[in-house]
Amino acid sequence: MSKIILITHQKGGVGKSTLAFNLAQNLSKSSTVAIVDLDLQGSLSQLNGLVTDFDIIPFTDDTAAIPELDYDFIFVDTPPYLSNQLPQLIQLADLIVVPTKAGILDLLAIKSTLELIEKENGSDRAMVVFNMVKANTTLTLDILIGLEEYNIPIAKTHISDLVAFTRSVLLNGVDNDRNAKKQLDRLTEEIITKLV
Ligand SMILES: Nc1ncnc2c1ncn2[C@@H]1O[C@H](COP(=O)(O)OP(=O)(O)OP(=O)(O)O)[C@@H](O)[C@H]1O
Ligand SMILES: [Mg+2]
Repeated sequence: MSKIILITHQKGGVGKSTLAFNLAQNLSKSSTVAIVDLDLQGSLSQLNGLVTDFDIIPFTDDTAAIPELDYDFIFVDTPPYLSNQLPQLIQLADLIVVPTKAGILDLLAIKSTLELIEKENGSDRAMVVFNMVKANTTLTLDILIGLEEYNIPIAKTHISDLVAFTRSVLLNGVDNDRNAKKQLDRLTEEIITKLV
């Protein structure tokens, strides 16, 4: 059976597509992987043809068909709003990854996504991932406390703001950057651990 990993956050530009791409690229070294691109802008779908290590499946209305796809891992990349597909996607996902930047405004914006995950009983299958963390910053207690009211775990691995991630989509990953690769490997491991 495929493991379905939903990547979602109602805010734009938090790194949903970038994380989906890099996690898919990383897992494709040892498994069969697809990304279902539910963003109507189709950002990842435009890479179809350039990407050879995994499949990118364009927008589908038929959410229920996703579990029938035959891959080890299926990432579902979502648009920057709470789409009407989201409740069903939360229910069928084995893991829900919510990337966020570490700013106060970003955490205010995350609330409606986390509330929807709670409402659809997905909290114990969800994970918040801090992305684009600036060099020489530590996440302040305020930020972590702000998330405490939701019973949603936070990934131990933080993904830094690194040019390797910006370029990763063109370079088929971050293997050229030791730091980025180390972070991606750790996050991949956390995700696999949570899935098994
Ligand atoms: N860890 C990172 N370090 C540096 N740049 C990053 C990182 N993650 C994402 N980016 C960059 O941030 C921008 C937004 O990322 P991305 O498109 O993945 O976000 P998104 O959440 O999918 O946005 P949207 O909601 O609009 O689809 C892109 O230019 C991407 O290259
Ligand atoms: Mg995107």
